[in-house]
Amino acid sequence: MKVFDFPLFPEAASSVAGDVDALYFFALAVSAFFSLLIAVFIFIFFVQYRRRHSAEVGDVIHGSMLLEIVWSVIPLVITMVLFGWGAKVYFTTQTPPSDAVEYFGTGKQWMWKIQHPEGHREINRLHVPVGQPIKLTLTSEDVIHSFYIPAFRVKNDVLPGRYTTVWFEATKTGTYHLFCAEYCGTEHARMVGSVTVMEPDAYQAWLDEEAPETAPVAAGAALFEQYVCHSCHGETASERGPTLDGIFGHPAQLTDGRTVVRDGNYLRESILRPAAKVVAGYGATMPPYQGQISETGVLQLIAYIKSLGDETRTAALPNGALAAARGETGTSPGVDAR
Ligand code: CUA
Repeated sequence: MKVFDFPLFPEAASSVAGDVDALYFFALAVSAFFSLLIAVFIFIFFVQYRRRHSAEVGDVIHGSMLLEIVWSVIPLVITMVLFGWGAKVYFTTQTPPSDAVEYFGTGKQWMWKIQHPEGHREINRLHVPVGQPIKLTLTSEDVIHSFYIPAFRVKNDVLPGRYTTVWFEATKTGTYHLFCAEYCGTEHARMVGSVTVMEPDAYQAWLDEEAPETAPVAAGAALFEQYVCHSCHGETASERGPTLDGIFGHPAQLTDGRTVVRDGNYLRESILRPAAKVVAGYGATMPPYQGQISETGVLQLIAYIKSLGDETRTAALPNGALAAARGETGTSPGVDAR
């Protein structure tokens, strides 16, 4: 929607954009309708019931049950419609489809760092194929940022020490704005970038052109090796530690009786501060890795642990990726690639 080339509304370029806009316009229409209605009544009433001579006194009104019910029930119905509709859109925007491809993003004063599942890295740029649901797992290396793509109607805070996700399915090729929407320091206003949506063929061509870095799964495998994680976390449970094969997304009972789902946030905490939540049957013997592994490294380790599904450890890796990863990251895998 453009008025004198002054864009009032961002382009709608994702699968949820229509739903978000419809809800927004409904709320806007309801507000406009009642604002107008009230304004009109104010005008009518002040003409109709104006004081006609200085001694005039108003009627004493004792209330009306009917009126009170009407002005309670109508707003109740409207707000419940907004609530139900809003909840439906909210759950859609918060629940990535199961076939979503996972990308990683890190916010940092003052840039966005993105890594593709194939290993490609970008800074302040994100290339995606059209028509493919994409899930971005986001965290921050310093302060709170907010990942915002207006054209996709997605926005989510990006927090240090926690993973948040946004997902979208771009429906139109083109280049769109990427913003940081949380004041995060002096150069917050410059923490901007672009999202380029491409036809799948063009995207593949772009991938082929760009030199991939080590894919997160392979990089995670190399870190797993480097920190000798396998000595305790083998293919089967050992005395020292549980196996990590196929645990991702599944619940575990802790020593204190609680049950937790072993998702990204749990794994991150358990790598950095293992004593926080120890799986029942094991001692708090694992050393903490806080300060030793970068956020990127932790994301890679989690990507690797996630890949330890039904397949065996080596089969989970692309051809030769583990060897390549060892060679490429051998000396400083914990150091964040910039
Ligand atoms: Cu990052 Cu504002």
